[in-house]
Amino acid sequence: MNLDGSEITWLGHASFLVKSPGGKVLVFDPWLQREGNPKAPPSYDTLGTDTDIDYILVSHGHFDHMGSAVSLAKESDAVVISNFEIAQYIADQGVTNTIGMNKGGTLELGEIRVTMVFADHSSGISTDTGIVYGGEPAGFVVTLENGMTIYHAGDTNVFGDMAHIRSLYAPDVCLLPIGGHFTMSPKEAAYATRLLAPKVVIPMHYGTFDVLKGTPEALRDLLENDAVEVRVLTPGDHH
Ligand code: NI
Ligand code: MN
Repeated sequence: MNLDGSEITWLGHASFLVKSPGGKVLVFDPWLQREGNPKAPPSYDTLGTDTDIDYILVSHGHFDHMGSAVSLAKESDAVVISNFEIAQYIADQGVTNTIGMNKGGTLELGEIRVTMVFADHSSGISTDTGIVYGGEPAGFVVTLENGMTIYHAGDTNVFGDMAHIRSLYAPDVCLLPIGGHFTMSPKEAAYATRLLAPKVVIPMHYGTFDVLKGTPEALRDLLENDAVEVRVLTPGDHH
């Protein structure tokens, strides 16, 4: 979808491709079909070579959020931004450009600002030899060159400090998980939307697996009397 000169494309699940008004390309929580995302359009399997990606943002260590981080970073030379532990883990896989940060920190990337914020979830990294500590899960608040602000919540339950995210950053667009089971369901996501008060909420992290039962229709019903647009995207559609 196009909003204030930004193009936001859902790649299925929690993966989003954002082209900023200044021409920068950011990918949130990369997980392409080739690495197992059943909802990612196969045409995006060549994203790393087709597109000059600038930044890859990884919210936490679960495979469905960083499954394509290493491969995409190697293909595109993008900078991977995540918490300290995941940035180190990804660097250890041979990725040259990583930035480790933590909650409350803000990166100034030219005219784009990236702030890491709280998420109520877990972040262990599954490996062949068991789970590796992946630091703490996070969300990202990204302010683009023209001031348009996107909050990608990562995987999370609703939490009261979303009110602080609203006060501090006033996100225009919120990307919120609604599938339930591992994250918020529509009930909690509707409550989160009221705490965050964005212009647009885009539901994500639903329908990928059978247990993710929350639907965008349910979220829309819960928010029908609220002054927010629930924008339901189709993976791969950038119109
Ligand atoms: Ni997760
Ligand atoms: Mn997840």
